[in-house]
Amino acid sequence: MKKLRIADGIHMLTMNVDDILFEGMWDIGNGVTLNSYIIQGDRTAIVDGVIGWDGIPENFYTNMKEIGVDPQSIDYLIVNHMEPDHSGWIADFMKVRNDFTIICTEKAAGMVRSFYGEDRIRIVKEGDTLDLGKGKVLSFHPVPNVHWPDTMYTYEKSTKTLFSCDMFGAFGRMGDHCFDDELTSEEAEFFESEGIRYYSNVMATFTPSVKKAIEKAKTLDIKTIAPGHGPVYRKNPGKIISDYTRFTRYAEGAGKNEITILSGSMYGMTEKAVGFVEGILRREGIKYNKLKLPHQNLSEMMADVLKSAGIIIAAPTYEYKLFPPAAAALDEIGRKKITGKTAFRFGSYGWSGGAEKELNEITERNRMKWDFIESVEFEGAPRKEDLDKIEKKIMELIEKMKAKIVE
Ligand code: FEO
Repeated sequence: MKKLRIADGIHMLTMNVDDILFEGMWDIGNGVTLNSYIIQGDRTAIVDGVIGWDGIPENFYTNMKEIGVDPQSIDYLIVNHMEPDHSGWIADFMKVRNDFTIICTEKAAGMVRSFYGEDRIRIVKEGDTLDLGKGKVLSFHPVPNVHWPDTMYTYEKSTKTLFSCDMFGAFGRMGDHCFDDELTSEEAEFFESEGIRYYSNVMATFTPSVKKAIEKAKTLDIKTIAPGHGPVYRKNPGKIISDYTRFTRYAEGAGKNEITILSGSMYGMTEKAVGFVEGILRREGIKYNKLKLPHQNLSEMMADVLKSAGIIIAAPTYEYKLFPPAAAALDEIGRKKITGKTAFRFGSYGWSGGAEKELNEITERNRMKWDFIESVEFEGAPRKEDLDKIEKKIMELIEKMKAKIVE
C-alpha cells in the first residue's frame, strides 16, 4: 500500500490488487488499484475504503497511522458507492470505533444496512455539505447508475478536489507514478487502454447515466480528480473527462480506426476466409484485433469491441443456428449495451443456413442497432467467388466505418 499527499490535509492510500476476477467475473490481467482518501480538518473523514480481505484492514490502519491518522479518530465514512471493493472494510471498522457516521445517498443507505447491518447513517442529497473544520468543506453530488444506483461524487471545496469513485477510473496496477503529471507516455497510454477496458466491463451498460455524470462534473470547478481506481488527475483533469466522453461515444457506435474480428470456426472452413480477410486488412493498413472464439477473456473481448469502429463476426451455422460461442459473445456484448457498431458477418454452412436468423434475433433482442453490411454465407469451404464477395464487403465496411472513427 502506498501513501500519497494530494493536498494539505488530504492523503491517498492506494493498493494494487492482482489475481482477482473483478466483480467475480472479469479476468483483469493487469490488476487494479483501490484508492482511498483521507481528509483531515478538525474532524476526519475517509472517502471510500478498500476491500475487506484478510489482513487488509490491519495493513490499512498501519498505513493510516504512518500519515498521522489514528483510525479511531475517523468520524465520517463517506460511502460514494457501496460496491464492496470500496465499502468492504466497513464491517471491520465497526470493531475499531462505534460512534462514527456513514455519509451516503438514500439508495446506498439501504445497502449499508443490508450488507453490514449498520445504521449510523446520514443520508445526503444534491448539494448537501459537511464542514470538517480547518477550511475543509465537503459537498455531495449524486450521480446515480454509474454503475450502481447509489453512487455520488464528493467534492472538497477549498482544494477543488473531486472524489469520483468509479467514475473516471481505470484498471491497471500503478507503479511509482500515481499522478497524471508523473506518468510517462507509455504509462499514460497504458491507463487509457485500461480505462477503455474498465469502461467496457463496468460502465458501458450505463452510458446514458455516465453522460449525465460527465455533465455534472463539468458544473463543478475541478482542480483535481481523485478516482477510486487508477491515477489521480491534478495537472489536466479535463483529459480524463474528455477520455470518458469519448468512451461513451464508443459505446454508442464510434471507435478507433480498428476492426475487431470475432472469429469462430468448427473445422477451419470459416477460418480460411478469416485468413483471407486478414490479408485485406493488412493490405489496407487497418489495425485489427483477432479474437478466437470461444474467447476465454471476456474482459479483453469487451474492450476490443468497445474501442473498434468496425466489427467482423466470422462464424458458421451450427445446428441451424449461429455458432454458439459467437452467439454467446454477441449476447454478452448486447447485455453491455454496446450499440451502433458498423459490422459484417460471414461464415460457412454445411447443409442448411440459420446463423443469420439467430444473429438478427440476438441484435434485436438486445436493441443493439448495429449497422450490418449484407452478410456472405458459403457452402463448405469458401470458393474464389465467395472470397471476391467477402473482399467487396470488407471494402464497404472500411469505407462505412470511416464516419464513426473517433481517436
Ligand atoms: Fe469500484 Fe463499482 O466499484
